[in-house]
Amino acid sequence: MEQKELIKLLNSLSLDEKIGQLVQLNGNFFDSNEKVATGPIAKIGIDKEKIPLTGSILNTMGAKELKKLQDKYLEKNEKKIPMLFMADILNGFKTIFPIPLGLGCSFDPELVKKTAQIAAKEAAVSGIHVTFSPMVDMARDARWGRVMETYSEDNLLNCAYAKAMVEGYQGDHDPDSTISACVKHYAGYGAPIAGRDYNTVELSERTLREFYLPSYKAAVDAGCDLVMASFNTIDGIPVTANERLLKEILRDEWGFDGVVISDHSAVKELVPHGFAKDEKEAAKLAIEAGLDIDMMTATYSNYLAKLVEEGKLDIKYIDEAVMRVLELKNKLGLFENPYRGGNEEAEKKYIMCDEFREFAREVVTKTCVLLKNDSILPLNKNNKIAIVGPYATSKDVCGMWSINVDSDSAVTLYDGLKKKFENLVASKGATVIDDSSLFESFNRYTPIDNVIDDNKEELLQKAIDTAKDAEIIIVAIGEHPQQSGEGGSRGDITIAPSQIKLLKEMRKLNKPIVTLVFSGRPLALNEVANNSDALLQCWFPGTEAGDGIADIICGDVNPSGRLSMTFPHSVGQCPIYYNEFSTGRPAKTSKHSRRFTSRYIDIPNEPTYCFGYGLTYSEFKYSEVELDKQVLTPDSKIKASVVVENTSERQGVETVQLYIRDLFGSVVRPVKELKGVQKIILQPHEAKKVEFEISEEMLKFIRKDMHFDSEAGDFEVFIGKDSNTENKANFELKK
Ligand code: GLC
Repeated sequence: MEQKELIKLLNSLSLDEKIGQLVQLNGNFFDSNEKVATGPIAKIGIDKEKIPLTGSILNTMGAKELKKLQDKYLEKNEKKIPMLFMADILNGFKTIFPIPLGLGCSFDPELVKKTAQIAAKEAAVSGIHVTFSPMVDMARDARWGRVMETYSEDNLLNCAYAKAMVEGYQGDHDPDSTISACVKHYAGYGAPIAGRDYNTVELSERTLREFYLPSYKAAVDAGCDLVMASFNTIDGIPVTANERLLKEILRDEWGFDGVVISDHSAVKELVPHGFAKDEKEAAKLAIEAGLDIDMMTATYSNYLAKLVEEGKLDIKYIDEAVMRVLELKNKLGLFENPYRGGNEEAEKKYIMCDEFREFAREVVTKTCVLLKNDSILPLNKNNKIAIVGPYATSKDVCGMWSINVDSDSAVTLYDGLKKKFENLVASKGATVIDDSSLFESFNRYTPIDNVIDDNKEELLQKAIDTAKDAEIIIVAIGEHPQQSGEGGSRGDITIAPSQIKLLKEMRKLNKPIVTLVFSGRPLALNEVANNSDALLQCWFPGTEAGDGIADIICGDVNPSGRLSMTFPHSVGQCPIYYNEFSTGRPAKTSKHSRRFTSRYIDIPNEPTYCFGYGLTYSEFKYSEVELDKQVLTPDSKIKASVVVENTSERQGVETVQLYIRDLFGSVVRPVKELKGVQKIILQPHEAKKVEFEISEEMLKFIRKDMHFDSEAGDFEVFIGKDSNTENKANFELKK
């Protein structure tokens, strides 16, 4: 439809029809049964007559189901404006990939982009138009359960992944294989005080701009069609009604012209925030701040018309928002084809097809991170193996947001290992959580693994009996999927005691132990590592969990994952991240007595596993850093290089990382910042020169004067295998 026709359509709409376009409900409101009236309608208090005007629906899917819904809706919709269908698709739609924090460990945006392309294809043929993804909130605090949904604690990676995901989902907007992306949760949602979900966020303007905004901007710059406002406040103002965030920065500074949608119920939550006196004021504050779509409350539906009729709201705010929604529907081609890519035949052809599953298996092997290996992995296929633990035979390996998946479709660890190792026995040994009261906090769980077996001792004894004749023991333990994700904040980031007890009982059998950890966050793994000969972080690996992990365990694939988020020694260190500031009393270099330096008296400062860390079955040696010049100017570049040698007998992938430190500035600067990554394949005993270019552009930051620019001065450049590297050289920037 031409723009002028859209304007004509807008002008033809009644006030109620306009407001309907700004309301999003879930599919329950469109069920034909009479329970709807006493159920969802009563629950959010929307006027039943307004429901046929609804502009979009969330989390209903399926080509047949959505076509039926669209047909029924259009029948009643006088102006024939099709509904938008949106859904939470974070790490795959039906073919589930590792959770985003696992994807972040690939250090491979192109690989991650392909996961988005596959998710988009499966979703498009299922009739979905928009995904509430990518989630690119900065992840620095392992207590916050939603770190599982984002990619990294580092912005070079987060920005690269944001771009990759948006391009992967949206491509060329082909209706049969792409969907619109909705970047979230704008902004700063990843910094809740105390790591408690939905809690207050306190960030200085500089910290917000330097560390928390770049990944959303990367998504906007990549052409993201929607932005989701976050639940939290910024500077005391909920983002849902924060004009500075939603208009001044997002639209005026960044040039975003798409749709802004609230998070679930967030418009109404302006009242409990203490920002709106009542829902009527909440509606006014949100629409005037630039919040277009009200997700799953009746606030806009019940109050916007009244505000206009009482002369308390200029209708231009509604018209602007409605126009953006109509433009999005037009961009998706819905006026010409309201079903877009929905196609039952295509669903049968593409959903979880072999090609997609094979790729998902490859992604598992590239996102698991080998944290310890005392020459035990890979295992020999003739080994007599016992696999114990709640994840030995569990299908619940897709993570908290895999709401669209048939959990039976996942390959269990046992299923995967059985194809590689003839002599394999399994026993559960322990339940995944000890405390059944946790279930009250789980709003969604799979029945497979949530039986809290009363007979814990019997479970344990069976595992001991199973494992005592094995040569090697694999212990598969971790968090319950619902212990991370939304609302999954934890004050204790260790694995449940009964699983630790299982591990220690296995240790007493004096056999080599390979421990596999399934989790949605970095856990405190010291005790696990101390009782294991090898340790592999598996995240929640998705549909191909068992096959992908088995490929690593038997050595068919050499692991290459690197941690994209720091693993704390214990929860007391949180938030902890590699690119911290030095402080005036750095524990390692301060001249003060140890007592009076920045440190704990009861735990180390250092994390258990640092950002960028990961082992492979190969060994790599680095030469010293060489620079082709020691002085950089704005119009020149420095070439920094190392020679990396594979000193092992095994081909492997090394993830070479370049970090830079600005030694002093008009504001303090991080002790290291990742500025480059190169993944190289080296044959046994092969050596390769790896070269990075350093430009003045890479040295820019938000200075004391709030300008984004560089400052002349002294710098260190590091090239190594992780953020702990001290392999460095010095250079100076002259301006
Ligand atoms: C939730 C989440 C958001 C999700 C939305 C729709 O509350 O915060 O990430 O996309 O609601 O399910």
